[in-house]
Amino acid sequence: MTNASSAPQAASDATATTGAAPMMSAASAASAPSAASAAAAPANGKAPWETVPVTVKVNGVSHGPMDVPAGLMMIDWLHETLGLTGSRLGCGQGVCHACVVIVDHADGSSETVRTCITGANYFDGKTVRTVEGHAVRDADGNLTLAPIQQAFLDHFSFQCGYCTPGFVNAATVLIERLKRHPVARADLEAAITEGLNDHICRCTGYVRYYTAVRDVVLKTPGCIKDVK
Ligand code: FES
Ligand code: FES
Repeated sequence: MTNASSAPQAASDATATTGAAPMMSAASAASAPSAASAAAAPANGKAPWETVPVTVKVNGVSHGPMDVPAGLMMIDWLHETLGLTGSRLGCGQGVCHACVVIVDHADGSSETVRTCITGANYFDGKTVRTVEGHAVRDADGNLTLAPIQQAFLDHFSFQCGYCTPGFVNAATVLIERLKRHPVARADLEAAITEGLNDHICRCTGYVRYYTAVRDVVLKTPGCIKDVK
């Protein structure tokens, strides 16, 4: 069991600043499975090494246009070009969801997208949030974690923390969705399961992740229909 002082800060800025090398970092592009989304395929029929112009807004900052190899996976672009190393490469095959980022849509909805099997070119013109985008730092440099990050720390939800960026992003999408489309209290457990079910953690029994998300949902006004 970890504690707040040794934990990777709910995978926020600490994961971005530790410089820890992501597992299997060289494997992602080459090992994209056949089940990968069409977005993982090189754009415009180009060979993987040919470049395409990409512009992406990440955590409120616009990057590009940059010439990006058509076969480069988004997680490698985040890590190697933008220096955003908080997103974790776990399986590299689209299974564990450790690598997901949030894509925000113009209608106010959002979704998570796996960056290990999705080419950087897919994100051209899109608005993205990574795990580094959740905490807020004030003018004095003091960091305030997002409620879900703080809850994961408070509940000791993780041990190694490798899966945590994915859980932070998935839980954020879930909570924001519940604010737009509240559920009855009786349906909350199912909603949490649906929101987190794709995420694999190899250290814990998931219970503390689910408990933390439930606590944040119940404390967030507007997520539950029948709570006064
Ligand atoms: S690292 Fe992307 S799904 Fe596992
Ligand atoms: S805390 Fe180690 S993989 Fe989830």
